[in-house]
Order: sequence, then structure tokens, then C-alpha cells
Amino acid sequence: MAETVLITGASGLLGRALVREFAGRGLMVLAQCHRHRGEESGSVRWLVGDFSSAGGTQAFLRRHAQAIARCSCVVHNYGPIAEKPTAEVTGSDLVAAFQVQLQPALDITRFLLAQGTLRSALFIAFEDTGRVRAFRKVLAFAMAKNALPLLSRSLAEVHPGARFNVLSPPTLAGAAIRHPRVKPVAPEKVAARACRIVLGRGSGRHYRWPAAAGRIARRKTHG
Ligand SMILES: NC(=O)c1ccc[n+]([C@@H]2O[C@H](COP(=O)([O-])OP(=O)(O)OC[C@H]3O[C@@H](n4cnc5c(N)ncnc54)[C@H](OP(=O)(O)O)[C@@H]3O)[C@@H](O)[C@H]2O)c1
Repeated sequence: MAETVLITGASGLLGRALVREFAGRGLMVLAQCHRHRGEESGSVRWLVGDFSSAGGTQAFLRRHAQAIARCSCVVHNYGPIAEKPTAEVTGSDLVAAFQVQLQPALDITRFLLAQGTLRSALFIAFEDTGRVRAFRKVLAFAMAKNALPLLSRSLAEVHPGARFNVLSPPTLAGAAIRHPRVKPVAPEKVAARACRIVLGRGSGRHYRWPAAAGRIARRKTHG
């Protein structure tokens, strides 16, 4: 039987490319969306979920428990960016960013671990994840994304039967908010790499986008 992958944020820019890539490789895809359900096919089923609160994530897991319990792979792609000038960032903004970037990913992962089916989980971060630098507009987002490598490495340590990795792509072609100095990359390319990582053998790793990583490493901090 084909493996099943759950993709969160599947109706978004990268999500749509991930759905095509995984379905094209013969996996059954459970595609989570919030308001924009995509096209159903023999290998793609859309699941509506609202991750704006922990209760919303639990309701999603309860509603679709039977289908999700079959998943051996998950791509935690949901993680929208929010901009706010750093001087105005509050503690509540940090809590909200952790809610968006971490709470659904961890609670869905824990659900799958409890089923005993999880083989591979991939967390999608962004190009500056893991770097210590100053941010002018996306501090809360960056702080929460920075927690993903810690989460993934720690889960890999305590759950050796499953693989946990992070992929940090640069700005995607077609994105509304762009990194000021990085050339956008086609979502299809990121999706293809994500698929290779999910189906590969590594665990506890943080995969960067080589071109973007090199470019950023040579520059000082910027907005
Ligand atoms: N865009 C970039 O340039 C870029 C660069 C580096 C990393 N990333 C990362 O890549 C990932 C995908 O980014 P993206 O730009 O492709 O995302 P996106 O286009 O903004 O997609 C947003 C997704 O989140 C869903 N969503 C929105 N509100 C929700 C809610 N309350 N509950 C549950 N789902 C909700 C949307 O569903 P509906 O459409 O159904 O409402 C959609 O599927 C993110 O983790 C992002 O941080 C993005």
C-alpha cells in the first residue's frame, strides 16, 4: 500500500507544490487547508483545519483522526509570516508566533507518534533559521522558526524510530513578502528537495538552501 503523507498549509504557495510533488511520487496525500480547498483526486484528499488555537488543532485531529492515523510522513509546512516593526513587538506577539509556528506542528507530531505510524517528519523553516542576527520586521516569526531545529534535533534523540528534519528555504517565487537580498526560488524546487528529505535517511538535520546560505553568510545583518 502507498505511504500516506500529511501536508499542512497545503493550499498555500509551497503547499500546492508539495501536494503535486508527493502525489507525483505515488504517495497518498492528506492536504490540510483552512479556507481554500484544492482539487480532490484519487491520491489527494483535502482536510479542513483551523490552527489559530491549540483547541483548533485538537479539533482538526479529532475530526480527521481515522485518516491522519494512517500517515507515516508529515510535512509541517503551515507557518505564515507576520511583519511588525521590532520596536513594537510585545510578549503577546511572541506567544502568537509560537502558536503559529510550533503548536500545530508539535501536537500533530505527538498524535502521529502516539499512533505508532510516524516514520518521517519535516518542519519548514526559512532562510535565516539557526542564525543569530538582528531583525527589523520579522523578529517574532524568526524567533519561533529558530526553535524548529531544536525541536527536530530533540525529537530525533528521544524517538529514534522516526526521522525529524528541518528544511530552510529562501524566499519563494511568487511570495508577497520577500527577503530583500535573496533571489527567489521556485516552490517546485523546494518541494522536490522536501520530498527527497522526507523519503531519505537523515534525522535531526537542518537542511539549508545552499545558494541562499552562502549569500547570507557573506553579508551583515539587514532588515
Ligand atoms: N513564502 C516564502 O517566501 C517563504 C520563504 C521561506 C520559508 N517559507 C515557509 O514556507 C511555508 C509555506 O509558506 P507559503 O508562503 O507557501 O505559505 P502561504 O502561501 O502563506 O500559505 C498559507 C497556508 O496556511 C493556511 N492557513 C492560513 N490560516 C490558517 C489557519 N488559521 N489554520 C490553518 N491553516 C491556515 C492556508 O490555508 P487556506 O489557503 O486554505 O486559507 C494556506 O494553506 C511556511 O512555513 C513559511 O514560513 C516561506
